[in-house]
Amino acid sequence: MIKVENIQAIRGMNDYLPVDTVVWQKIESVLQQVLASYGYREIRLPILESTPLFKRAIGEVTDVVEKEMYSFEDRNGQSLTLRPEGTAGCVRAGIENGLFYNQQQRLWYSGAMFRHERPQKGRYRQFYQLGVEAFGLSDSSIDAELILLSARCWKALGIMDHIELELNSIGSLVTRTAYRQALIKFLETYQDKLDKDCRRRMYTNTLRVLDTKDPYIQQLLNNAPELSEYLDKESKQHFTDLCTLLDQIKIKYRINPRLVRGLDYYNRTVFEWVTKSLGSQGTVCAGGRYDTLVERLGGHETPAVGFAIGLERLVLLFKKVNSCFAMPVIDLYFAILDESTLSIAIQISETLRNAMPNLKLITDYRGDRLAKQFTRANKYGARFFLMFSKDKLATKQVLLKNLSTGEQETLVLVNVVSRLMTLLT
Ligand code: HAM
Repeated sequence: MIKVENIQAIRGMNDYLPVDTVVWQKIESVLQQVLASYGYREIRLPILESTPLFKRAIGEVTDVVEKEMYSFEDRNGQSLTLRPEGTAGCVRAGIENGLFYNQQQRLWYSGAMFRHERPQKGRYRQFYQLGVEAFGLSDSSIDAELILLSARCWKALGIMDHIELELNSIGSLVTRTAYRQALIKFLETYQDKLDKDCRRRMYTNTLRVLDTKDPYIQQLLNNAPELSEYLDKESKQHFTDLCTLLDQIKIKYRINPRLVRGLDYYNRTVFEWVTKSLGSQGTVCAGGRYDTLVERLGGHETPAVGFAIGLERLVLLFKKVNSCFAMPVIDLYFAILDESTLSIAIQISETLRNAMPNLKLITDYRGDRLAKQFTRANKYGARFFLMFSKDKLATKQVLLKNLSTGEQETLVLVNVVSRLMTLLT
């Protein structure tokens, strides 16, 4: 026989198996429930967008646009890009569908994003985000609402003690232009001490130098001018208001003067929820204000603020903290010991599903030896095991085994549904 080489998944793009998806579903349902409780509504967006959208929104000289986008020409020669993030598409959709003009919108979306980064734990080439965006509100109270909402998610998931909020204000474009000049001037005096990455960013994406992981350069930066000294009056007030509100509603935060974010559309508030429990990819959720983006993409001036949760990182953290999170068990396992019993088993299973919509019931259609079916039921962690055999059915009976206690009882066919309903509710 010819040996066929296996085709494998693309590097950095993961499969999520049923043991994983139970955790994802649990997390996603908690997040969606919290979002609904604040009146946020879902928007579904295309995975492919035209390349100029991301270039214009994220910025030509950002890492994402320069090095990480999956862009290609389609059959018509149009340049398309697999979305590296959701904000740009959300803004595009809002403008196109007239959602922003004179309106407030509280939206969320979730789905796959694509960045050609070097894969490692917590960093993938296809990853999932849940993004939340609020449009039409400029007051810092909406920034606070988003932070409060995210904190509620962490509490509901039991990870609040493992995650910290970092906060900063990067002011207006004018602020940043002035600060950039000052930072370049400072960096120029240390040029020979900077690494390749920082030297590359120094003139193109200057503020990102502040993000360096190099401890030596980090130390050098202790003497660099501070962004907060360059903030315009309104941004300063906006940030003070936000901090005051967070203090009043007892949300803990740390002001990180070096937090600048890697996408160009931000102004004023930027924030990240970070954990020390996941190694180097510790930012679980990140976002900020982007008051000029709607206009830059062709819409009317619309203040906006939002964040996105990296769902893989959230799953990793949740699993680390809730190490005993168990697969939801199967309630009932039907063992078919003789093929002739199959139709009655199916009828009973359907009646039970009608009566108990949350019931989890598996029927074993393979119908092989009892021991094998029993093993399979245990693999699913089934609570009860109902055996359909020709002999028993001849006297209108079935045998029920409680798999946690080992007890067995014989049930008369007409009572099966009511007895199981009693046992399972
Ligand atoms: P971002 O910081 O680029 O922001 O991504 C948000 C989060 O997505 C990160 O904090 C991280 O948890 C996760 N993430 C990013 N890249 C990867 C990757 N390669 N693998 C796994 N997880 C990753 C944005 O995308 C903005 N659109 C957030 C936003 C929404 N700002 C305002 N509204």
